[in-house]
Amino acid sequence: MLPGGAKGVASGGELWYYHNMNTTELTTEEVLSAFGQRLLPWFRQAARDLPWRHTDDPYAIWVSEIMLQQTRVAAVLGYYQRFLAAFPTVEDLAAAPEEQLMKLWEGLGYYSRARNLHRCAKMVAGELNGRFPESYEGLVKLPGIGDYTAAAVASAAFGERCPAVDGNVYRVLTRLTDCPDPVTDIAVKHRVRRWAESAMPYETHDIRLYNQATMDLGATVCIPVGAPRCEVCPMAEFCLARLHGTAESRPVRAPKKPRKAEDRTVFLLIRGREAAFCKRPPKGLLAGLWEFPNVEGKLTEDQVVDCLRLWGLTVKGWYRRISAQHLFTHVEWDMLCYVLEVEGEGRGLTWLDEEGARQVALPSAFRCCQTVLQERWEGW
Ligand code: ADE
Repeated sequence: MLPGGAKGVASGGELWYYHNMNTTELTTEEVLSAFGQRLLPWFRQAARDLPWRHTDDPYAIWVSEIMLQQTRVAAVLGYYQRFLAAFPTVEDLAAAPEEQLMKLWEGLGYYSRARNLHRCAKMVAGELNGRFPESYEGLVKLPGIGDYTAAAVASAAFGERCPAVDGNVYRVLTRLTDCPDPVTDIAVKHRVRRWAESAMPYETHDIRLYNQATMDLGATVCIPVGAPRCEVCPMAEFCLARLHGTAESRPVRAPKKPRKAEDRTVFLLIRGREAAFCKRPPKGLLAGLWEFPNVEGKLTEDQVVDCLRLWGLTVKGWYRRISAQHLFTHVEWDMLCYVLEVEGEGRGLTWLDEEGARQVALPSAFRCCQTVLQERWEGW
């Protein structure tokens, strides 16, 4: 039995300060050391079985990390499998037409990721003869690969000792250390990165697992919404935020700017068995993707008739008027959708039948019109 009030971590990872927990807390360094020792034993029995964890192919790991940016694991799984089945190698992706790639990405959001993925694949397949650089320093120079992705790929594929610090890691480490400073502050970001690095193992096999393990702890135990699941957390007994009762207010963030609300009128224009589509501009929100024609503001029926006349279309029938909303990161669209039968060609419009529309990538912002159109097509 160790003396009461003593603290530290024994070589086996067991905590001996626990004998006198009420009077003694670990320091930040001790907490990080205990975290480093407890993490992988926990991960070995609690890891989620995810397909990108069964490979050390940097291409497949890179695809998964790009898909997982801002996107939940459950939403990514199906996309990931379909994507790798369509493009098993970086050369396959580089050679693919952009439309095919965007179609596979349809509904996953943040479409610039797909375009950057394509750009990067072309560079790796071309200038680098199909081989990804085998280091963080090499990876981070590629288009669309930032600090986080380079570290995630370099650690998981090559066992390089570099921490991949994402939202999960910020949350886990600021709770463990009960960090009261905002993680939006660049100095705090650097501090968390140093903490993550200090807790990393040195053995290659363990390095490959470490970033994944921290992500899983953050995603399944030290969760972002609602109360953290401290009762099943391997770090609970020394987590400073838990001991201080501050876990739910860590990490501290600067207040978010509210989304800008925009009214839009969206047209589902039907002409016989076809519907009208157009392509968005190459820059900005949903750049280069297909959409149903739409304009700013919410138009009355009279204004709709005038607007369509300006485009060279005549309204032949009014079917439905639907309200819908879509949230982007910084903007919110409040949409009024008109479903109309029209006559004419319409400037800048592309008329597609069911088969043609299946080939184009339509962002989920337009899902309500897409559903109505699908119902019509199925009714024919
Ligand atoms: N989020 C980001 N990268 C991840 C990964 N490799 N596994 C699970 N969740 C993640």
